Amino acid sequence: MKRNRARSAIVTGASSGIGAAMARQLANQGVRVGLTARRVDLLEELAASIRSAGGVAAVAPADAADRQATSEAIAQLEQELGPIDLLIANAGIGRSSPSVGFSAEVVEEIFRVNLLGAAVAIEAVLPGMLDRRRGQIVGISSLAGFRGLPGSSAYCASKAALSTLLEGLRPDLTRQGVLVTIVHPGFVRTPMTEQSRHVQPWMMDADRAAAIILNGIARGRRRVDFPAPTLALMRLVRLLPAPIFDRLAAHILSP
Ligand SMILES: NC(=O)c1ccc[n+]([C@@H]2O[C@H](COP(=O)([O-])OP(=O)(O)OC[C@H]3O[C@@H](n4cnc5c(N)ncnc54)[C@H](OP(=O)(O)O)[C@@H]3O)[C@@H](O)[C@H]2O)c1
Repeated sequence: MKRNRARSAIVTGASSGIGAAMARQLANQGVRVGLTARRVDLLEELAASIRSAGGVAAVAPADAADRQATSEAIAQLEQELGPIDLLIANAGIGRSSPSVGFSAEVVEEIFRVNLLGAAVAIEAVLPGMLDRRRGQIVGISSLAGFRGLPGSSAYCASKAALSTLLEGLRPDLTRQGVLVTIVHPGFVRTPMTEQSRHVQPWMMDADRAAAIILNGIARGRRRVDFPAPTLALMRLVRLLPAPIFDRLAAHILSP
């Protein structure tokens, strides 16, 4: 595993799951970590355990759906930790979005966190990175973004949008010294997947997922897609002609 050379990093959605695991591992590698999410008690608990292990952590709670609160939290973390050279936009929600009884409100709720939350965090750190011509922006997307899946169409769409947004930013930012890494994990055991009723093949634990992601970040990868079997499956699913995809998806995933 390659160690991260960032001095200060911000992890959004650091209160549980993959975000908490990445923050802990980054701190173990000597990176100062800024933690944000809504549940301040969990963030403080994580920061205390990082500090007691000799690391540096700062906490600034915010709702990722609230543009002003998120940009203020990130500014506060930057003030406490110094210039941020790594942003991991990880905060996300995974509500179901049934096709029958479709609700634009659910789509809005998911996009506000999964897409706009990431965009606001990027907006807050990017000017400093561009001034310094140094930095890395990471978005935690999902292999679910490879195709619209019944029952999760809004989540899939939000992740496809996040990946496409970052892909569009990457060429120009890379030329200015700011790397962009898009992460597409398969199933990871976290509070998010605990709620699911569907089969979740090739599930891995959050620490393992965090280690794979951080290794890809440290290597400056443009994409980190894992695990291999789920990636192969989703690549195949993406290639299926629409009539075959519709029949299979309705059979396997519809309620
Ligand atoms: N688990 C998987 O199988 C899987 C697979 C692919 C991609 N992902 C992605 O990985 C990321 C992390 O998910 P996870 O699996 O680790 O789930 P998780 O344990 O539920 O973590 C989600 C994190 O996002 C934060 N968050 C949610 N809504 C927020 C809001 N409105 N404002 C600020 N923070 C918010 C949560 O903190 P608070 O509740 O404290 O705000 C929490 O820290 C997500 O983007 C998810 O889509 C997960």
